[in-house]
Amino acid sequence: MGTYGRLATRALDTDVPVMVKILELSKGAKDPMPLGQGAVYWRPPEQALEKVKQIAWEPSTSRYGTHEGLPELKEALIKKLRQENKLYKSSVMVTSGSNQGFLNLVLTLCDVTDSVVLFAPYFFNAYMSFQMTGITNILVGPSNPKTLLPEADWLERILFETKPVPKLVSIVNPGNPSGTCIPEHLLMRISDICGRAGSWLVVDNAYEYFTYDGLKHSCKEGNHVINLFSFSKAYGMMGWRVGYIAYSSEAEGLRTQLLKVQDNVAICASMISQQAALCCLEAGSEWVRNQVKSLVKNRDLLIEALSPLGEDAIIGGEGAIYLWAKLPDKYPNDFEVVCWLTQKHGVVLLPGSSSGGPGCVRITYGAVTEAECEVAAKRLRRGLEQLVRDGMVE
Ligand SMILES: Cc1ncc(COP(=O)(O)O)c(C=O)c1O
Repeated sequence: MGTYGRLATRALDTDVPVMVKILELSKGAKDPMPLGQGAVYWRPPEQALEKVKQIAWEPSTSRYGTHEGLPELKEALIKKLRQENKLYKSSVMVTSGSNQGFLNLVLTLCDVTDSVVLFAPYFFNAYMSFQMTGITNILVGPSNPKTLLPEADWLERILFETKPVPKLVSIVNPGNPSGTCIPEHLLMRISDICGRAGSWLVVDNAYEYFTYDGLKHSCKEGNHVINLFSFSKAYGMMGWRVGYIAYSSEAEGLRTQLLKVQDNVAICASMISQQAALCCLEAGSEWVRNQVKSLVKNRDLLIEALSPLGEDAIIGGEGAIYLWAKLPDKYPNDFEVVCWLTQKHGVVLLPGSSSGGPGCVRITYGAVTEAECEVAAKRLRRGLEQLVRDGMVE
């Protein structure tokens, strides 16, 4: 038997990470503009970068830390959750990025025989975490085609009709890849449905500060609700790997089980990164919001660049760092279009099929400065005009 036959079906049956494909694709292109990978162009606040220079020498930085996170960081996060997110009963576990937090939750809450729910277009890493842990019954719900908001009526029906009841419902707010913001009343309704049905609701708030045009992000508290947060985008800390899980201190037994998973996956999040995160919290949400403001111009430039697809083809731009666009009907193979735009026009997007949205693309407007975005927008517009007019010509 070759090696292939000895690989786990759990891994073999997991989607190939689209980001790996996209990065490979970009390698072949000349000076590609990165509108594919979800990232921001900024780095952490200066004081955080200065502080880590000193902290590197402290002996505790090189030791293992406590599983749930640096006590000072946890304390600061609990305060932040109360003041900013109105989460008053939260316990916290710091993780190596919120993707690790999500995986911890799936391992802690779900058995392979359970069914789970997410909404298309979904965050591909959430889908892959389910696949990778052996869950095969992944129920993909619809979003409203005009707004891309999760369809709560469908959720209510599916949670009350499916036996045994789906274990976990996953949503992202503001949305990746949708770029929409879930209004408070809809979030409350989703939470209420999950609570009544007996399902966990996991809300990924990685883009909590990324809202535009006066929209506000909100969180929901409850014994069945678990909120995930990340320092990656807010503080430009993608490579530092810090995120956290906020769960109800009244959720019986959850902490003990989460600790088992944490002990086997990360033991603790990187100590120096946690110190940097603590320092970022001192700079605070005002610092983040100032950075986020600089993205409005990028978003508008790219909305304009997408106009050859038609006004109705573009959704998102309310929150996070994403626009979602429908390709013309004659191009159902979004990956082919993404390859062509990369190779021929030097602009990289994300194929929608990787998020359960075939025939669409996701456009990220966070990873480039305004000057870079102007270049990217020109290339994108030219590429789309050609696509619509002449097709994918060589
Ligand atoms: C919705 C969402 N959650 C989580 C992550 C990953 O965050 P982290 O870097 O904290 O693992 C991303 C990254 O793109 C994301 O878009």
